[in-house]
Amino acid sequence: MTTVVDGNQPPSQASQPPLAGAAPASLPAGLDVSVVVPTYHERENLPALINRIESVARVSRLDLELLIMDDNSQDGTEELIAQLNKPWVRLIVRKANRGLSPAVMDGLRAARHARVVVMDADLSHPPEAIPAMLAELERGQEFVVGSRYVAGGSTDAAWGFLRWLNSKVATLMARPLTSLRDPMAGFFALRRADAQNVHLNPVGYKIGLELLIKCGFTRVTEIPIHFTDRTLGQSKLNLKEQLRYIQHLRRLFLHKYPDRSHLIQFIVVGLCGLGVNLGVLTLLLAMKMGLRPAAATAIGVSMLFNFALNRRFTFSYARRGRISRQLPAFVLACSAGAVINYFVTIAVALRLPADMFAGEQLAAFLGVVAGTGSNYLFNRYIVFHKRHHRHG
Ligand code: GDD
Ligand code: MN
Repeated sequence: MTTVVDGNQPPSQASQPPLAGAAPASLPAGLDVSVVVPTYHERENLPALINRIESVARVSRLDLELLIMDDNSQDGTEELIAQLNKPWVRLIVRKANRGLSPAVMDGLRAARHARVVVMDADLSHPPEAIPAMLAELERGQEFVVGSRYVAGGSTDAAWGFLRWLNSKVATLMARPLTSLRDPMAGFFALRRADAQNVHLNPVGYKIGLELLIKCGFTRVTEIPIHFTDRTLGQSKLNLKEQLRYIQHLRRLFLHKYPDRSHLIQFIVVGLCGLGVNLGVLTLLLAMKMGLRPAAATAIGVSMLFNFALNRRFTFSYARRGRISRQLPAFVLACSAGAVINYFVTIAVALRLPADMFAGEQLAAFLGVVAGTGSNYLFNRYIVFHKRHHRHG
């Protein structure tokens, strides 16, 4: 059940004096925009947010509606909005399918205007950037991000190293999907029509990334913002969300690269397996195990690890096949890959000039590439071959 408390007039535009920071000259008066703000326990932040948005709308003469998509916080949000009694502020209380991303998706559906800006309630995202974002849409961009990581953008100094690293790693992992510097942002603008009839299926927080990839936007741009840490209330981002992010990324990869997705996943699993191999080897050597048994164990463990992950993810269509047939086939395929790796390495090394810098390493690298390639082909077409399974 959804309770909708709303009104339908634009914010008052006359009477008040304009504030500092005039609107970009290219913005026509009366431009219409719906600002969608997902909220959960944000009552304390809403008065300041609404005030600042109101000023921005006034200065830039926007026809602006604000949609507060609240997941039934029951923290006084409803009373506050009723009491403020602003006709351009609509509160939508959601009681089913809770979560940030579904709240934003509902907001896109409920929005009445052609342009939509999505932002957080906690004042991390400056409403003052909205006119510049709209100006980019007017210039023909399809997706505009309020970005921390382009020139001029910044985050509060309080960000510790770990938080910074975390954000950077998450951003790098999305690099093959988008060249945006801040694809994690929850502050973005788009045309509502572009998101209609697009099947959205985000796992977790990154609704902006989902829209960017699923809508297939190519004209995308970023404008710098200062990202302010929240001073009131609590962040809801946790470890579980971060694991969901990996799952979400995988889905977006499959969506964007359906043909190459098996090979990419095979390589990612292989790199993780390499990490497992080195980890186990290091551990066993530290426990004073001899080199030969330690290396053999590390290879065995990483092989089993790779098998399990490839079966579960890379070739997930073969998950119902018999392990008793697949595992030996996998080990055979890997052995074949290892032999090919060996012969390619030796053959290349012998043909390179003896005094060449890092010649053996180059040969070994080419060996790995050849071994991995044959490994992949064996796995895809023999070990985990498709019988009657559909593409997956
Ligand atoms: N309706 C609804 N339901 N809103 C939610 C929910 C939910 O389950 N969870 C969070 N929100 C709202 C919050 O009230 C806030 O307005 C906004 O979503 C962002 O939540 P925060 O808890 O402040 O997230 P954050 O600061 O950790 O993450 C922000 O930064 C990330 C990049 O670093 C968000 O902007 C993310 O979207 C962004 O990816
Ligand atoms: Mn926040």
